[in-house]
Amino acid sequence: METRQKKGNLVFAVNGERFELPWVDPSITLLQFLRSETCFKSPKLGCGEGGCGACVVLVSKYDPKLKKVEDFSVSSCLTLLCSLNGHSITTSDGLGNSRDGFHSIHERFAGFHASQCGFCTPGMCMSFFSALVNAEKGNKPDPPPGFSKLTSSEAEKAIAGNLCRCTGYRPIADACKTFAADVDIEDLGFNSFWKKGDSKEMKVSKLPPYDPTKNICTYPEFLKSESATNLDSSRYPWYSPVSIEELQSLLNSNVTENGASFKLVVGNTGTGYYKETHRYDHYIDLRHVPELSIIKRDQTGIEVGATVTISKFISFLKEESKINFGSYGKLVSEKLAYHMEKIAGPFVRNSASVGGNLVMAQKNGFPSDIATLFLGLCATVSLMTSHGLEKLTWEELLSRPPLDSRTVLLSVCIPFKRDQSSPHTHSKFLFETYRAAPRPHGNALAYVNAAFQADVSLCKNGVLINNIQLAFGAYGTKHATRAKKVEECLAGKMLSVHVLYEALKSVKLAVVPEDGTSHPEYRSSLAVSYVFEFLYPLTDVPSAISVGLLDGINDISVEEVSESSKGRKQTLLSSSKQVVESSTEYYPVGEPMKKVGAAMQAAGEAVYVDDIPSPPNCLHGAFIYSTKPLASIKGIQLESNRLTDGVTDVITFKDIPSGGANVGSITPFGPNPLFADDLARCAGDRIAVVVADSQRSADVAARTALVEYDTANIGSPILTVEEAVEKSSFIQIPPSVYPKQVGDFSKGMAEAVHKILSAEIRLGSGYHFYMETQTALAIPDEDKCMVVYTSSQSPENAHRAIANCLGVPEHNIRVITRRVGGGFGGKQGGAMPISTACALAAYKLGRPVRIYVNRNTDMIVTGGRHPMKVTYSVGFKSSGKITALHLDILINAGITKDLSPIIPSYVIKSLKKYNWGALSFDVKLCKTNVTSKTIMRAPGDVQASYIAEVIIEHVSTLLSMEVDSVRNENLHTFESLNLFYDNIVADVGEYTLPSIMDKLAVSSSFFQRSKMLEQFNQKNTWKKRGISRVPILFEVTQSPTPGKVSILQDGSIVVEVGGIEIGQGLWTKVRQMTAYALGLIESSWAKDLVEKVRVIQADTLSVVQGGLTGASTTSESSCEAVRLCCNVLVERLTPLKKELQEQNGSVDWPTLIRQAQKQAVNLAANSYYVPESSSLRYLNFGAAVSEVEIDVLTGQTTILQSDIIYDCGQSLNPAVDMGQIEGAFIQGIGFFMNEEYLTNEDGLMVSNSTFTYKIPTIDTIPQNFNAHILNSGHHKNRVLSSKASGEPPLLLAASVHCATRAAVKAARDQLKLWGKLDWSVSEFYLDVPAILPVVKTQCGLDYVEKYLENLLAQKSN
Ligand SMILES: Cc1cc2nc3c(=O)[nH]c(=O)nc-3n(C[C@H](O)[C@H](O)[C@H](O)COP(=O)(O)OP(=O)(O)OC[C@H]3O[C@@H](n4cnc5c(N)ncnc54)[C@H](O)[C@@H]3O)c2cc1C
Ligand code: FES
Ligand code: FES
Repeated sequence: METRQKKGNLVFAVNGERFELPWVDPSITLLQFLRSETCFKSPKLGCGEGGCGACVVLVSKYDPKLKKVEDFSVSSCLTLLCSLNGHSITTSDGLGNSRDGFHSIHERFAGFHASQCGFCTPGMCMSFFSALVNAEKGNKPDPPPGFSKLTSSEAEKAIAGNLCRCTGYRPIADACKTFAADVDIEDLGFNSFWKKGDSKEMKVSKLPPYDPTKNICTYPEFLKSESATNLDSSRYPWYSPVSIEELQSLLNSNVTENGASFKLVVGNTGTGYYKETHRYDHYIDLRHVPELSIIKRDQTGIEVGATVTISKFISFLKEESKINFGSYGKLVSEKLAYHMEKIAGPFVRNSASVGGNLVMAQKNGFPSDIATLFLGLCATVSLMTSHGLEKLTWEELLSRPPLDSRTVLLSVCIPFKRDQSSPHTHSKFLFETYRAAPRPHGNALAYVNAAFQADVSLCKNGVLINNIQLAFGAYGTKHATRAKKVEECLAGKMLSVHVLYEALKSVKLAVVPEDGTSHPEYRSSLAVSYVFEFLYPLTDVPSAISVGLLDGINDISVEEVSESSKGRKQTLLSSSKQVVESSTEYYPVGEPMKKVGAAMQAAGEAVYVDDIPSPPNCLHGAFIYSTKPLASIKGIQLESNRLTDGVTDVITFKDIPSGGANVGSITPFGPNPLFADDLARCAGDRIAVVVADSQRSADVAARTALVEYDTANIGSPILTVEEAVEKSSFIQIPPSVYPKQVGDFSKGMAEAVHKILSAEIRLGSGYHFYMETQTALAIPDEDKCMVVYTSSQSPENAHRAIANCLGVPEHNIRVITRRVGGGFGGKQGGAMPISTACALAAYKLGRPVRIYVNRNTDMIVTGGRHPMKVTYSVGFKSSGKITALHLDILINAGITKDLSPIIPSYVIKSLKKYNWGALSFDVKLCKTNVTSKTIMRAPGDVQASYIAEVIIEHVSTLLSMEVDSVRNENLHTFESLNLFYDNIVADVGEYTLPSIMDKLAVSSSFFQRSKMLEQFNQKNTWKKRGISRVPILFEVTQSPTPGKVSILQDGSIVVEVGGIEIGQGLWTKVRQMTAYALGLIESSWAKDLVEKVRVIQADTLSVVQGGLTGASTTSESSCEAVRLCCNVLVERLTPLKKELQEQNGSVDWPTLIRQAQKQAVNLAANSYYVPESSSLRYLNFGAAVSEVEIDVLTGQTTILQSDIIYDCGQSLNPAVDMGQIEGAFIQGIGFFMNEEYLTNEDGLMVSNSTFTYKIPTIDTIPQNFNAHILNSGHHKNRVLSSKASGEPPLLLAASVHCATRAAVKAARDQLKLWGKLDWSVSEFYLDVPAILPVVKTQCGLDYVEKYLENLLAQKSN
């Protein structure tokens, strides 16, 4: 029975369930409420910043007057619960689940293999569901049955703000596009629904049905009848004034007096950027004041209320741009809408207000886009201050001191210019906006944004600038500014190349970032590019006329410059193809089965550590870390008042029990400390854990804690590898893992005709960005025992570390890991300190303790990839054949060993991908005062494979040869391969790399495209293209792995393995292997057996010696361990089966197992797979061709196409392997092209948020993405002939970087043609990652000026 809302209570619905809360902390977010107070755990916490989309839910609001429901997605991590009075929330588990049936979105995600670790998937589903629900409301024509009204492009854009670190997005986009009415079903990728040869109709019919008429009811009927009254302010410190007068009197009332703190709030998304540590006494919600939510336009302009959301404003502008309301209004509306669609992701824009954005810009200097747009449009604002109402220009307001907390921004007016376009005056208004950002389609702050408008007249001799406004922002300035000097320099002038050239000089002087801003020169040069792009078309009157200056402003451009703006409007993925060569030899092994539990992951039902309900009395911890690289710790002061802020304790090394040790993690190379003792040894060193009654309280207390340091008499920290060498600070590399040299370097050098001596490469770090941050839960048990749940790739070592730290026998500890929300190596050594810290706190306090490390701390504390400095000398012949290579490699390992001693061997293994003739090296592991560097997918390998390519490119540059020829010249022969890899490949047929390279050249039309590209580059000045074909060779080693198979009474089967399901599909492969291996009793049973197998969580007391999950081989080793168990069971059961068959003529599996039970056959088997030396190591091969296009004006790189061929042997599951290949490739693109890992002068990681660390998104992956899994047949020493896929394909992404380098080279060649770069300057080095500033810098930050100088020189000749 529904109860009516008590007056003033907070009432809302979640998935149709009514919630009424008589009191609630007003600062609690929807996500915190859902995850801690309800059973709906599908929204996940990935960042808490609005930057990842893991927490997305659908919010629905009812308008009783219009009787309409409005549905929109929001980031629940930023949405305040109190703002949802009378609203309904739908989460992914509300769409469907395993009990009531999954939604077709879940099922299609599963069938398209679009969920790996699954942590991002519920948020993805909800972003997409929101688009789907809204599309159905539109008045587009009805789609064909089974489809929605969404278009393919809308389907892709729906998930544009969501991050996924595993899949590489392609399968997610495909799953979403299955709903689009305009999709060509033949274009959709590899999935488990369709068979080869299915017709289009069959394909549609096989998709899990979607019927829009049966869509979920997002707003329950009962809520409609409950009027959403204001919350009772005597109980909730939350006020929702409904008029200006009420707001005013509230601001003058005792709510805001007597020192009570209050906050004006709209969408609360500002807290994503400015982390809120302050607790407010009161909140004033501005959304119900009608004057603040207006949007209107008339002849004079547009007025937008401060609380209007960015999404609503965009929709309004889009509608507006369709109305022919004067060309100026139309132009402005169109440009503003287009620009603002790039602000954040849809789920942020849906609640973020225009006014909130402007206030953040005014008060806090936020690098806002809207502030710049409005400045460029000479907008005016209305304020309500304590003195009354005030109107002023936005520019005036920006120059005032930060607004006080009682001043309310009411609305903004964008004045329309009087439309003067007439054949008589030939006068026009131009308006354009610009932004270049790490991601072209949004969810990334701009390096510089700009909005320009000009009033120009077309005269006989050219274009006269009557008036011009140039606004720039976000470039490292307190607030957006007008470049007044440039405006003055241009106003009243007849535009010419010379005038423009002079104006651009003053742009560079006007747009100067403040000290401390990253890439300052790039930002200034970007401003120049924008002005050039805006005005250059007007310097050439005939062109300007021919492109329609007289007809309209929108398409004013000349061909060359417009290329870049067109490029920036491109849609996302244009096509993809997956080729899979599967085999039925070991059926069901080899089948592209969908991932176990994928639909469940999509629905958010899959349980991760933080989804385990907190036990009673549970406490929460957060790390305090050092911000100094080397300092004594004198004390820790909590800013908060312990009791009122819920803090229970601060745990340091002093709390380690006697008999225990300061051990946080254990690797094969020894233990590493949990806490800094009296001395912090790096910025990011863990000093303590604050334990409090909630995660939020713990986080706030840790964030605001003051650590007292003393640096006197300690010496200076070692921060670089050079300093480490100077001070001989090294970590020993055990001789057993130090790699071996090949051949005689001096002899090889003597054979060389050319030499490069002591060239240098530097590579920085990288962060794993697993979507689930580090987390653990420790629960004390009887007799000093402890059960610890952890998200770990190595529970066995976590177990040992905890026992060591607590000083208890290992049998006191039980560590359980069910699944990991992404690991990529970061949850080996990196996860253990979290579980150990939890266990220590739980041990001391005798209460359960959990830690869910927030994203910023996780990024700072966890370390990352190993930075390197490499100096190489190489000898080669004129043919390009390299005869000798020597490298001095300095690896920055950070402060502790972790797993660093194996990195040198990984580096050398992957470096050996070419035949260097002779290879010698000196590798040093430098011990420095930075966070311990750790394993990250393809650790050392990815750097080494890239180093090899740099050397090849260097050689080719000096010889002026095609890079591809030099690559070919140095590819291994079968003999040289075995020389370099110690006879690892037994059979010449197994060395598939040369044939892969040939095949790829054909399938990707490499040579034809290379030719076409030359022509493209000759014709285009502002866009340059490059293409590159790169081989990889990757050695892996198998590890001993345990397995356990138990058959239960009903014939269902439980499997335990050492390997952990981290998204890589291990459980799926193990399940297939179990069915195959038990199916050897009777092959016709194998198919049905698959469904009977359940792989369960790793429990360190149930299966011991689990080892660590990594190095790409754990799935196959786990499969082999299970096969060994099954062999034992088959041996036990086969005689009985024969007996039963003889007795009854036939027998089925359930009968066999029933009889086996009766006859006391042991139905459980254990194994420990220890690979023989012949099968221990092997090589993997693959190659990729990538083509890119760079925008010389901005440095933006677009990956036009990537083609991959990868040899999986006989894939155990091609669907899973395809996911690994595509996902690893995209992660590699992140390393090579996107992810800037920045530290301050103390070595503290400062790009520690989703705002600053940009992993690939759907708009940064190849537009054409083709992957081919090669089945290279039988491999006798492999697990059912299969080969690894987890890490090697990541290296293939070097092809994108190499192609970018080729494109940059084309830009530099252009400069040479203009005589602006000496032809003798052939060498240049393109940094990794090749982010926009890097690309533009190498193209020449003054490329535009040089272009104009060339023009001027031509004109004067
Ligand atoms: C992930 C993410 C990415 C983003 N990317 C971009 C981007 O690329 N470009 C860009 O321009 N912006 C970006 N933003 C900023 C975003 O536009 C703002 O966070 C948002 O517009 C703020 O609106 P809000 O309603 O959530 O404000 P709130 O968070 O509710 O408020 C923000 C601040 O303004 C005050 N305030 C709000 N309204 C008023 C008012 N009417 N009068 C006085 N004070 C007021 C509040 O007290 C608070 O101090 C991003 C934000 C996020 C979270
Ligand atoms: S957790 Fe909310 S957007 Fe990342
Ligand atoms: S499946 Fe997307 S983050 Fe793992």
